[in-house]
Amino acid sequence: KPFPAPDLKLCNYTVRSFEGCCTLPVRLGSLKKFDFQPQLPMRVRPAAHLIDDAYIAKYQRAVEIMRALPDTDGRSYLAQYRLHCAYCNNHLYYEGREHPLEIHQNWLFLPWHRLYLYFHERILAKLIGDDEFAIPYWAWDNQSPIPPFPGEIPKAFAHEWSLSPNAINKTSSLYDPDRNSCSKNPQIVEFQNFTACPLPQNKSAVREQNAQLMWTQAVSVSVTPLIMAGAPYRFGDDGGMGMGGIEGRPHGPVHVWTNTKDMGTFKDSAADPIFFSHHANIDRLWEAWKTLPGKYRKDVTDPDYLNTAFTFYDEDGDQVSVTVAQALDLDLLRVKYQELPMAWTDKGT
Ligand code: C2O
Repeated sequence: KPFPAPDLKLCNYTVRSFEGCCTLPVRLGSLKKFDFQPQLPMRVRPAAHLIDDAYIAKYQRAVEIMRALPDTDGRSYLAQYRLHCAYCNNHLYYEGREHPLEIHQNWLFLPWHRLYLYFHERILAKLIGDDEFAIPYWAWDNQSPIPPFPGEIPKAFAHEWSLSPNAINKTSSLYDPDRNSCSKNPQIVEFQNFTACPLPQNKSAVREQNAQLMWTQAVSVSVTPLIMAGAPYRFGDDGGMGMGGIEGRPHGPVHVWTNTKDMGTFKDSAADPIFFSHHANIDRLWEAWKTLPGKYRKDVTDPDYLNTAFTFYDEDGDQVSVTVAQALDLDLLRVKYQELPMAWTDKGT
């Protein structure tokens, strides 16, 4: 059976890890059902290393406004961060059921994070009154040795000082002081020795290893829908049955390399705003994977997958239920990604 949209009130912190996650804004009316918004302009998510200062300032401003909303508002940064936490570490449960809902290490990983980004982006867009606003993606899979380097923490997140002229305070809303010292520029992300932090970094060796790992995970290993998506996971199953093709690596190493404290844990991951650009890249790679050669590079079609539903906060702060089926077509969500070469697709040939 599919998971029904969880009731966000049923969040258990007494037997799980972290009380804060479960302090989620309550629902006032009934649970809305998500509908596509075909009237929205197509939103093109740009590569984060290529955006200009005006774009960075706009993004910073949107997150500042989000951070200033009261905690009781599902659109606030705190509520957004807590929502990810609630869906982790088995916090959410169903009345009378022993097993909780977990969105990592199973086939819900890709669609849940796509929808989470969708609503996060729609909220930011509404807060600044710009329906074209799109979250930049951090193109860490691209190993270009020509500046600006996609493997570095993108400038938007690296800045300690806000570019926004109306900044509420002078620290960038996209900055997280807990980043690892080894992830500071000019270091580039490492998928292999992501905790070792050898200095100075042998960049050409790191780039070669990264490209090789991208090829292994996305091309040579992930040849069927289930290998890419992750293990089947149905209502009543225990969680954590098997990670998808790019979930284990490079998704995990990029988290830990960036920031062991926030990004390196499930519960606090989304406390670092770079989380959203990291996941935009995962989302882009999922989409790109479907265009690689091979006739099985398609989405899972099992009805328990398609009919599983999640609860999110939409751009009006209302709780809305969305199905996995509604996550599968980016065109319908009015999202696309700025094109950038995938320099790893032929690494094994
Ligand atoms: Cu919900 Cu990258 O994790």
